[in-house]
Amino acid sequence: MKALTGKTALVTGASRGIGRAAALALAQAGAQVIVHYGRGAREADAVVAEITAAGSRAHAIQADLVESDGPHRLARQVRAIVDERLDILVANAGIAKAATIEETGVEDFDELFAVNVRAPYFLVQQLLPVLGEGSSVVLLSSLAARNSVGNLSAYAATKGAIDTLVRHFAASLGERGIRVNAIAPGVVETDMSNFAKTDAGRDFTLGMQALKRVAQPDDIAGAALFLASDAARWVTGDTLRVDGGSKL
Ligand SMILES: NC(=O)c1ccc[n+]([C@@H]2O[C@H](COP(=O)([O-])OP(=O)(O)OC[C@H]3O[C@@H](n4cnc5c(N)ncnc54)[C@H](OP(=O)(O)O)[C@@H]3O)[C@@H](O)[C@H]2O)c1
Repeated sequence: MKALTGKTALVTGASRGIGRAAALALAQAGAQVIVHYGRGAREADAVVAEITAAGSRAHAIQADLVESDGPHRLARQVRAIVDERLDILVANAGIAKAATIEETGVEDFDELFAVNVRAPYFLVQQLLPVLGEGSSVVLLSSLAARNSVGNLSAYAATKGAIDTLVRHFAASLGERGIRVNAIAPGVVETDMSNFAKTDAGRDFTLGMQALKRVAQPDDIAGAALFLASDAARWVTGDTLRVDGGSKL
């Protein structure tokens, strides 16, 4: 039997990048996966097709998480699918905007906090009726929360908020048997980190890492799988650095 047979997982932002890799990894470990997307319906359908072709169950559901009721709408759809129980939530959907302090506008600032902080907060809140003993919540932090890398102050602040939420959620939900952790990737080659595909971006990335290659989404998915699984049953309230030894 696979490690996650009989479990149901929701991965937000699973149409691309790290979320897609996490969804595929969880499915490969036997979980039924709910593949959330924002705009990428075709991409999400392709993830579902890949999972079902490999013999697991998957559904695609849409919700725009910049909207204030987005997490609530998403949770309603999830509760209808899972009926009583959600075992794994990987709240991965996120946006980044590189800008200096002077360049950062109020609208961009609010959008970053809406998608990266408000959405996971209210998604956890709205899914509490179906989370319970043994459920694992994984949020996405970033190297940027801890270290000044690039012009990312507003984005970094959203990820600092995630590190704080992880501890508060874990402390509050522990008595229900719910674990809450975060993963803090360094630079990962996705649409969000397109600069890692340029020579300058690659040099910058390798220059700050102990391990000398640019991370791929799969490198992060393994950590999500670990935190979701029983192997991490005694791990909660932690942010796990998964960054190839960045800025040591
Ligand atoms: N890449 C990195 O270097 C890096 C480093 C540290 C942390 N992270 C974190 O890892 C997570 C995933 O990043 P990634 O690199 O995989 O990003 P990505 O390739 O840009 O994918 C972002 C995902 O989030 C979804 N999303 C964005 N805005 C949304 C919205 N308003 N409503 C619903 N869904 C929305 C997208 O869905 P659609 O395309 O369907 O709209 C997409 O599936 C993020 O939280 C990010 O902050 C990334």
